[in-house]
Amino acid sequence: MIFYFSATGNCLHISQQLDSHSQSIPQVLKTEDLEFEDETIGIVTPVYAGKMPHIVRRFIEKATFKTNYFYIISTYGMNDSVASEWASQFCKEQGIKVNYANTLQMVDNYLPSFDVNEQKAMDKKIPEQLSMIKEDLNQRKNFIKQPTEDGREKYDLVKARFTEYPEINNGEQIKITDKCSGCGICVRVCPIGNIKIIGGKAVKINKTCEFCLACANNCPSKAIIMSISDKNPNARYRNEHVSLQDIIKANEQ
Ligand SMILES: Cc1cc2nc3c(=O)[nH]c(=O)nc-3n(C[C@H](O)[C@H](O)[C@H](O)COP(=O)(O)O)c2cc1C
Repeated sequence: MIFYFSATGNCLHISQQLDSHSQSIPQVLKTEDLEFEDETIGIVTPVYAGKMPHIVRRFIEKATFKTNYFYIISTYGMNDSVASEWASQFCKEQGIKVNYANTLQMVDNYLPSFDVNEQKAMDKKIPEQLSMIKEDLNQRKNFIKQPTEDGREKYDLVKARFTEYPEINNGEQIKITDKCSGCGICVRVCPIGNIKIIGGKAVKINKTCEFCLACANNCPSKAIIMSISDKNPNARYRNEHVSLQDIIKANEQ
């Protein structure tokens, strides 16, 4: 049994490679019954500033898992910092023993810092990473990836910056521009239902959100930009193996 959260398809793709019946966390969270039992249970999540997205944390806090083998695969772009250690510690605080936590490097979809066209051009050896992880999971390996010194330093730096300037990373800087055609795709890919069409244009309901960037990355008009920093407003990303319909099905509220 595998659960995933995905804004731009990386985690969706990886979870499907591990189990074709993987379940989307935003959809599972709509249901009342959050008790799960299986021989193995896994979560595939993006890394957000070294941690897990809030929606994944809410899921782990609310759900109960009965299993002999619990694992977390965190996809990331350029620096996995303390991701596996942080995720297993978070689970431990919820009474969950994590047997395996590892990371997998993919395209970095963090638009404020990265040009996703440059990211797409890099060969991050995804199939090779995935087959090593599959092998580990088949062998039921016990392993928690430990952060490097550099990873810890980066985590501390990023944490300090986001504490001082929360608007960089809490969704406040997401701006819907006049290019919006009112197609409503952003409404459908937002995992928390934070966008509505009003008067033929997309409008954010709350100023802050998960900052997953599903709206900006999946907007066909590139009408959603980062107002503080947007490395390349003309470059947007969705995993090549994942369709827009897949993201909608996973996230629509
Ligand atoms: C708010 C936010 C924070 C992120 N923080 C990190 C990070 O600390 N380190 C990193 O390497 N990638 C980071 N990323 C990139 C994503 O973890 C990465 O692109 C992931 O594979 C996206 O998965 P998805 O396509 O399933 O949404 C961040 C992305 C977002 C939107």
